[in-house]
Amino acid sequence: MLYLDNAATTSVRPEVLEAMMPYLTRWFGNPSSHHTVGEAAADALSDARARVARVVGMRASDVVFTSGGTEANNLAVKGITLASRGNHVVTSGIEHESILESADFLARLHHVDVTRVPVDEYGRVHPEELASALRDDTALVTLGYANNEVGTVQEVRALSAVTRERGIPLHLDAVQAAGWLPLADTGADGLSIAGHKLGAPKGTGALIVRGRVPLEPLLHGGGQERGRRSGTEDVAGAVGLATALELAESERAESSARVAALRDAFIAAVLSRVESATLTGHPTGRLPGTASFTFALTSGEAVLLELERRGIVSSSGSACAAGSDEPSHVLLAMGVAPEVAQTAVRFTFPHEARLDPDALAAAVAASVTAVASGG
Ligand SMILES: Cc1ncc(COP(=O)(O)O)c(C=O)c1O
Repeated sequence: MLYLDNAATTSVRPEVLEAMMPYLTRWFGNPSSHHTVGEAAADALSDARARVARVVGMRASDVVFTSGGTEANNLAVKGITLASRGNHVVTSGIEHESILESADFLARLHHVDVTRVPVDEYGRVHPEELASALRDDTALVTLGYANNEVGTVQEVRALSAVTRERGIPLHLDAVQAAGWLPLADTGADGLSIAGHKLGAPKGTGALIVRGRVPLEPLLHGGGQERGRRSGTEDVAGAVGLATALELAESERAESSARVAALRDAFIAAVLSRVESATLTGHPTGRLPGTASFTFALTSGEAVLLELERRGIVSSSGSACAAGSDEPSHVLLAMGVAPEVAQTAVRFTFPHEARLDPDALAAAVAASVTAVASGG
């Protein structure tokens, strides 16, 4: 079986599991306990914090460990906005549900105005559009660094230049970017990451937010994580996240270049073999491991089934929100017609991909033909 749904989740790397094991067994202590077992856990936690901070170019005290990307995004959107005097949030229509629903929550219960800045046909936000969406009372701009469905990468330095000039915090959902793209020089004030997209377990993640940005906690209690996220810390999870992030960063230049070459060969082969195929997302400014298409006049779900019969596991362009077969909000926001959006298929390669792009494209062509000919 060829697993090409790495944007959904990845397997845990053996090195990550090995690094975590001591904190699940021998050094299982509570980092708040004042004895050797607790202190060993506290040391591991602070080491993990420093390692995450180093990769993202921020301070250890900026790191808030969370239960994953969804919590990090909720904390960023709600926590920064509620701590601010501003009453306006800017985002875009192609964001992950954890961003869009958090902004909706603020609009419904806290009378916050939410502006969705438009994206172009590739899913890019243009700096001038962002600049014109900003107001004097804008509390936060939150955008995805790289899109989970089509892989489009934002020109983050141009966007952060706009927010900096206005002194408005910029949060980037870097859940898909982490491991593939540089995290240290985006110019953002906050970054969300999730361990399970890069070889650490599900349920691990972090929001890293510069100390100067006030943050209202969502979880109240014992005051862990400098009061920004109460609850006994998942020490092994933090160690796993830090290990996976460091490993991915040390391999990033090599793996991104190698996988991007495979991706380009695969995209070219699909476009030449499958007449109905259209690439979605930016032709070049895209994640190294993401190739996403629509196959007009088919059904994305039917193509996925045919692919699986041929041993290839991938996913539809939509985030598969609990069994929904609504067309992807990402593709709709990019101007794709609903009936075409329903034919989307996304292939997301692992960092270690060493597949044959032409053989894979041949399997895609056979799957699309099988669907188009009704069987
Ligand atoms: C861009 C993006 N943001 C946030 C999330 C949510 O992360 P998690 O699954 O860790 O809650 C995902 C995961 O699908 C994602 O792709």
